[in-house]
Amino acid sequence: MTVVSLEQLRRCHFAVDLGAARTRVYVKGAGLVVDQPSVAAINTKTGALIAVGEFAEKMTGRTPDYIRVVRPVSGGTVVDIDMAQRMLRQLLGDKVRRTLRRKPRLRAAACTPHDADPLAQRAAIETLVGLGARRVELVDTLIAAAVGCGLPVEQPEATMVMVCGAAATQLAVLSLGSIVTAERVPVGGEAVDHAIVQHLRHQHELMLPSQAVRPLQLALSGNGLTPQGPTSTEIHGRDVATGLARSVQVDTAAVRDAIQTPLTAVLDGIGKVLRACPPDLVADLADRGIMMVGGSALLPGLDQMLREATGMPVHIAERPDVCAVQGLGYMLEGKIEPLILDPLTS
Ligand SMILES: Nc1ncnc2c1ncn2[C@@H]1O[C@H](COP(=O)(O)OP(=O)(O)OP(=O)(O)O)[C@@H](O)[C@H]1O
Ligand SMILES: [Mg+2]
Repeated sequence: MTVVSLEQLRRCHFAVDLGAARTRVYVKGAGLVVDQPSVAAINTKTGALIAVGEFAEKMTGRTPDYIRVVRPVSGGTVVDIDMAQRMLRQLLGDKVRRTLRRKPRLRAAACTPHDADPLAQRAAIETLVGLGARRVELVDTLIAAAVGCGLPVEQPEATMVMVCGAAATQLAVLSLGSIVTAERVPVGGEAVDHAIVQHLRHQHELMLPSQAVRPLQLALSGNGLTPQGPTSTEIHGRDVATGLARSVQVDTAAVRDAIQTPLTAVLDGIGKVLRACPPDLVADLADRGIMMVGGSALLPGLDQMLREATGMPVHIAERPDVCAVQGLGYMLEGKIEPLILDPLTS
């Protein structure tokens, strides 16, 4: 990743976390000004932007032919630069854009996935250049998230951070402000939702939009993903064959099984990181455990499942969904110790 110093970050005016699921923007001195779905709705006849964010997401699956709902960020990287720019402009709104335009040399920061390739990094930079930034600093999402959740990253003890996003789960062991080992597993909240949708389709011949799986996930909670929650729960969807509305009683244990595959990939990732980690640091981790951040850290019972599988303490950050952008915010405001300056070179 590009070498960035804390000094350069302090000179940035705004910071952006363009996620597969959500876009978040922090403006120096103003705080978090945007936290919206990374979605845009366009009129395919005229090319005009119809809606962005929450409003565009609500349109998913409900639009007439001439409206298309698109996601300019996929798998954690910007896949449609032009659309990402238009979406961001709209999300920022006139007032914030005016404030930013007044800066003589506008500087932006962005976090990018841990193993983002040069092309993905380029796409993030270009998106922000299109918004007027003259200079863009990139920060590893793992560092941004660790800083954002207040982990003592600059200490000589190891801490483990796990960024549970929509498209991926990223894991790192950090010590003295830098990444000791890291992994990116291309499995996140989307994969879990997808596994549930597929399960309902195959076992119950029920179609369900992925936004509708949340109640089912909640039924898995309370006692973790362990088989003690309610045994079944009622789900409303559409019959695959007749297309008519139908509700079914879904066995929660079977749903738990269905999401095992994506979760196993995440567990494998934890194992890999631990194996690559020096023994002294593993001893620290046994005490301090894993800090979960990212929106999918809120998946009911995931923390308990990880606790059982690893035998390590597992914590969920206070506002897990906004940790990465909050970390960038701290860097912009100069609210972190200069000791973790070098690590940003990782
Ligand atoms: N309460 C919740 N329970 C379960 N899952 C949740 C909850 N809230 C958010 N999620 C999931 O979290 C994911 C979004 O997390 P986040 O906002 O960190 O994603 P992102 O930063 O856009 O993604 P990425 O970092 O992978 O690009 C979605 O998959 C969403 O389904
Ligand atoms: Mg993210």
